Amino acid sequence: MKVLVVGSGGREHAICMAASQSKRVDELYCAPGNAGISEVAKLVPIKAMEFDKLADFAADNDIDFTIIGMDDPLVGGIVDVFNKRGLKCFGPDKKAAILEGSKAFSKDLMKKYNIPTAAYENFDNADDATAYIKKAKMPIVLKADGLALGKGVLICNTLDEALEGVKTIMQDKKFGDAGSTMVVEEFMTGHEVSVLSFCDGKTIKIMSSSQDHKRAKDGDTGLNTGGMGTFSPSPFYTDEVDKFCKKNIYQATVDAMAKEGRAFKGVIFFGLMITEDGPKVLEYNARFGDPEAQVVLPRMKNDIIDVMEACVDGTLDKIDLEFEDNAAVCVVLASDGYPVSYEKGFKISGLDKFDNKEYYCFHAGTAFDDDGNFITNGGRVLGVTAKGEDLITARKKAYDATDWIQFDNKYMRHDIGKAIDEA
Ligand code: AMP
Ligand code: GLY
Repeated sequence: MKVLVVGSGGREHAICMAASQSKRVDELYCAPGNAGISEVAKLVPIKAMEFDKLADFAADNDIDFTIIGMDDPLVGGIVDVFNKRGLKCFGPDKKAAILEGSKAFSKDLMKKYNIPTAAYENFDNADDATAYIKKAKMPIVLKADGLALGKGVLICNTLDEALEGVKTIMQDKKFGDAGSTMVVEEFMTGHEVSVLSFCDGKTIKIMSSSQDHKRAKDGDTGLNTGGMGTFSPSPFYTDEVDKFCKKNIYQATVDAMAKEGRAFKGVIFFGLMITEDGPKVLEYNARFGDPEAQVVLPRMKNDIIDVMEACVDGTLDKIDLEFEDNAAVCVVLASDGYPVSYEKGFKISGLDKFDNKEYYCFHAGTAFDDDGNFITNGGRVLGVTAKGEDLITARKKAYDATDWIQFDNKYMRHDIGKAIDEA
């Protein structure tokens, strides 16, 4: 069959890698993709938000199945455009993608259906938010309602910081319209775990757990980023946590969405905080995490197309999701200065050592120069993933492999997976 993947990051490279290893895929395309993805898929020069052009491409080229990797097109309704034209497409439609598109919606959903999450209040004007915050306990968390490139969350330690935060989100509109509504939420402590799942609107199947490292610098300091590294599975995701979440969170979310007339087909990403009072939902995303996908997908035994097709067809109950009994660690190689400002265009060497079995190098911000050499072209440049029999082995292999790669201004965290030693 012919498959098209939409997106251009490390996540889409991981999806393309899995699809390229599927027995069912004869031709693989990625729009717009990146230089590294071109080694496993034919690149299509159409941007992810150009829904009609993408649907035209799928129709004109007899694409059998399209996979949407990114949040923006999902929240913008790309799946509806494909569905209207009878084109088979993996991902939630616009009504369901609101689970990620509006934090106020997702908080209200959790409250209505008793799904454990932090206490909160939604506000659509700065005066009410300010009055509420003045009476609240610090630290407190402020969240712009809509998509803000993962940057719309402010953790405020003092009242002054919180009042400044209200100004930033609601008055200065730093995150644009995403900040027209704001969630004010109780601050939680504990271990963060990412759980990705496949859903077909009724049934949900959980993938192996993982953990992200969101801050730019070692010791979880510096600015928030898209993610500087991941490991899977998370030792903090115990059998007890799994049992609790299966009983109170996963199926409850899928059932709640169906009851609201928003049946969710695609990947639900549960951002969980394992607190002293048990697991609580930090956030939902409506797609694979990045770089979570870069450690979870290489460990999945199933043919990715079988699973995704079952999500679209409503037959996920027939699928047994299976993961290798091992571990994986991903270390992101970024351009020094990310996430603020950085130079691009440096030549990358050492990419030929990865076997795509034990060692993977997923591309995010890369391009070709005029001579066909790989060059840096973004903040997060590459995700170096290694698998091993356990987390400690995988971590050593991943860090060894980061030495194979050279480019000017290469930057990475040196403590990805440090939490493994404390588990
Ligand atoms: P979100 O995009 O909602 O996941 O928030 C980004 C990051 O902010 C999360 O990964 C957490 O590290 C942190 N965060 C969000 N909400 C809370 C909360 N209620 N308590 C503590 N940390 C939070
Ligand atoms: N790594 C977090 C995310 O994809 O949102």
